[in-house]
Amino acid sequence: MMRSKRFEKRAERPVNKDTFVQEDASLGLVVMDSPHDPKPGITVINGRITAIDGCAQEDFDTIDRYIAKHAINVESAAEAMAMDSVLLARMLVDINVPRAKLMWLMSGCTPAKLCEIVSHLNVVEMMMAMQKMRARQSPGNQAHVTNWRENPALMAADAAEAALRGFDELETTCRVARMAPFNALALLIGSQTPHGGVLTQCAVEEGLNLRLGLKGLTSYAETLSVYGTDEALRDGDDTPWSKGLLASAYASRGIKVRFTSGTGAETLMGYESGKSMLYLEARCLLLVKGSGAQGVQNGSISCIALPSALPGGVRAVLAENLMAASLGLEVASGNDAMSSHSDMRKTAKLMLQFLPGTDFITSGYSSMPRKDNMFGGGNFDADDMDDWLVIQRDMQVDAGMEPVTEKDVLEIRTKAARAMQTAFAKLGFPNITDEEVEAAVTSYASDDMPERDLAADIAAADAFLEGPLTALDVVAALDQAGFEDIAANVLAMQKVRIAGDYLQPAAVLDRDFETRSAFTDRNAYQGPGTGFRLCGEHWERLSAIPQARSAAEMVPQVAGNPGIRLQPIPVPAPPSEGEVVIAIGPAFAGKLDRVLCGLSHGEVLAALIEGIESKGMRARIIKIYHTADCGLLGFEGARLSGSGIAIGVQSKGTTVIQRRGLAPLNNLELFSQAPLLSREAYLQIGANAASHAMRRPPSPVPVKVDNMARLRLIVQAMLMHKREVSCIVPGKSAVEMQAFHDS
Ligand code: 5AD
Ligand code: CA
Repeated sequence: MMRSKRFEKRAERPVNKDTFVQEDASLGLVVMDSPHDPKPGITVINGRITAIDGCAQEDFDTIDRYIAKHAINVESAAEAMAMDSVLLARMLVDINVPRAKLMWLMSGCTPAKLCEIVSHLNVVEMMMAMQKMRARQSPGNQAHVTNWRENPALMAADAAEAALRGFDELETTCRVARMAPFNALALLIGSQTPHGGVLTQCAVEEGLNLRLGLKGLTSYAETLSVYGTDEALRDGDDTPWSKGLLASAYASRGIKVRFTSGTGAETLMGYESGKSMLYLEARCLLLVKGSGAQGVQNGSISCIALPSALPGGVRAVLAENLMAASLGLEVASGNDAMSSHSDMRKTAKLMLQFLPGTDFITSGYSSMPRKDNMFGGGNFDADDMDDWLVIQRDMQVDAGMEPVTEKDVLEIRTKAARAMQTAFAKLGFPNITDEEVEAAVTSYASDDMPERDLAADIAAADAFLEGPLTALDVVAALDQAGFEDIAANVLAMQKVRIAGDYLQPAAVLDRDFETRSAFTDRNAYQGPGTGFRLCGEHWERLSAIPQARSAAEMVPQVAGNPGIRLQPIPVPAPPSEGEVVIAIGPAFAGKLDRVLCGLSHGEVLAALIEGIESKGMRARIIKIYHTADCGLLGFEGARLSGSGIAIGVQSKGTTVIQRRGLAPLNNLELFSQAPLLSREAYLQIGANAASHAMRRPPSPVPVKVDNMARLRLIVQAMLMHKREVSCIVPGKSAVEMQAFHDS
């Protein structure tokens, strides 16, 4: 077969490294509306639910039993289930219907009903609904903090930087499971270094996870995975009741609980029985609600590649986030695991949560480079942070990350790594060397770190877990060693566990440990003028990316060094046939001294004159005062030129060749992108102008091709032009100049 070179090129693009598969419901390869999904329905007898979605209680599986008893609100079920799903979908989008009213109705819905409602929404409508339905008014974000070497100093430094960057929650896990106590400790110390209140967790096996919490090393858990079929739950060693019990165990010790679920898990486990991924996720969400958990991490999470391979998969992921929010659950909305090879596709997907805002835009932003992410990569990582910040600034959206300066980052990393070193020393753990601390501050990734004795760390971590030391001993160690502020913050994290306020739905802590939750910061969005607005001091902070320079800084600093002096000629000679006029703008070799390609005004004039003279013509320099417009400079020059040919040159370097009698914008040759010109180009422009005057054919002018020049220089070009415009003297006639080149 013939090949199209364009097809060949596209075939190599990152997006074509992704996998795409056609729907096949019999294999569970369907994100929404499987033919095997049940139709919505409910039977309530004497306040008890006896049938769900066409399944009578005799046939209930454990999930049906659990959600019938604990999750579906019998008070609102009759009303909600009787309502048209299209109407409910419209209410989700309608700014006039408040969140509380919808939560009441959604709480009475069965899994199939929830699916039917969201199936009527397109992604823009889902985003509208998400903006209203998310629990907490202020959006937030969670970061991943791990490293392949499990270096404690690096982990503490990374945690401190993530906290400084404004993440509300930090999550770590381990490469070697037994390092969990040290990783949790590194996160605790690092997270409380720049300020207090950042919540932390260490995602490990549940028994160990709970013990880390009991020691005071962590403050939340989102490891409680649930699945939408009995078989999948059993495969995960669980029943709905075991999950409910575990959730209670965490909460009873003041540890914030969030479940994890998400489309695709059951299919991957082989236990989806032909049901759509979203339908099974709806069952998970009711299971989460029935367990009394305040929230969920969903959005497919580790399974994202599977729904992404299917038509509508990314829409379905937003649908599951929205379903969870509509049930009143806090949502950490995914965007953590790798979803595509394509940056464009990843960003497009991200926008579905980034723009409306969710409680946590990512349920784990890789705050270190990808290779150190022990959660299996990271859809976005440390290298992408500036892109994230710029997109926030572009859209005036808070997606949970704050700009920082390199200086502040280095300072906070140093402090955290030193605190970790000190805590290790005081608690009798293996030595953290000064060399490690220094490397932890500046390293790119953990392979820049000095090697540690992992066996010794593991032995010490085991002893820490088994022994009597707790977070309080860490507080004492830091306090005695001069890290009183970190010690106070770590202690305060223990106190909030006792007060328990942050067990409220969607709670995070402010820097002064105040709870910001669905109760204290309730999402009150009801259309324009309401809800969360990124404005005032907060907007100023988020928009102040360190790369943004002040216009004052960017205005070209006139060194007063154009390399040429221009003086009016007292008695100009009359125009002659053998001349080409060079008409220069009002700031030329005055308020400006250099064109955008970097040449001085003297160099530009010298090149133009040399070009003109190379053809045996003479150059006449005329300074124009009444306009700064390139077309009009050429027009006025041509009017005054004896040959009728002129070169118009703006002070920023934009150049035109013009003939008398042509309209200002209808010129002979235009060089509209000044940064792409050069000495050779100006030489040829001079020569071509002379050729035009002699009615000979011009030659091509060597202009560089750089599509990014405008992007780089547009602000500077605008500032230079503004300066030139400020030099305009209305009504002032052109003046012929004599040039004295400085040597
Ligand atoms: N459903 C349920 N649990 C999930 N996890 C990740 N994705 C899902 C999902 N779609 C849990 C698993 C995994 C951890 C990172 O989060 O337990 O090991
Ligand atoms: Ca997470």
